[in-house]
Amino acid sequence: MVGTPLSPCLESRKKRIIKIINNSYSPYSQFKVAANLLTECGEQFDGVNIENSSYSLTLCAEAAAISSMVSKIGPNAKIKNIIIANDKGTFCPPCGACRQRLSEFSTDDTEVILISISDNRISTHTMSQLLPHKFCSDTLITS
Ligand code: THU
Repeated sequence: MVGTPLSPCLESRKKRIIKIINNSYSPYSQFKVAANLLTECGEQFDGVNIENSSYSLTLCAEAAAISSMVSKIGPNAKIKNIIIANDKGTFCPPCGACRQRLSEFSTDDTEVILISISDNRISTHTMSQLLPHKFCSDTLITS
């Protein structure tokens, strides 16, 4: 199935993803992932997955993009949307841990845009759809 043409903005961000996805360090899974996030201030940050021979120390692409964002603009950064893609012609929804990581810098309406690079299919979700009832220490019931 071939998707509709992407908007010019998404097209240019997809080009950015294609440019960095081969920087992925994924010798164990051979599964390259790239993420490009847009902050509410209009800045873009990228990340790729970085694996480790101990497996559990693997850094997901979303985590790498968040790390880059916070390192550059600090703790008040807010994500407007994030694009996530792999090189297998399928969608790559964020893993559970990355949903929780993203939620720290998101609102319920932050969009997670999955792109299938080879055929331009996109699938858009909000954070509240992907992570309902998220853990948040503000809402812990203490009594
Ligand atoms: N991966 C990500 O980069 N993001 C996710 O949300 C899910 C999984 C990476 C981790 C690992 O390097 C590879 O995909 C296969 O699991």
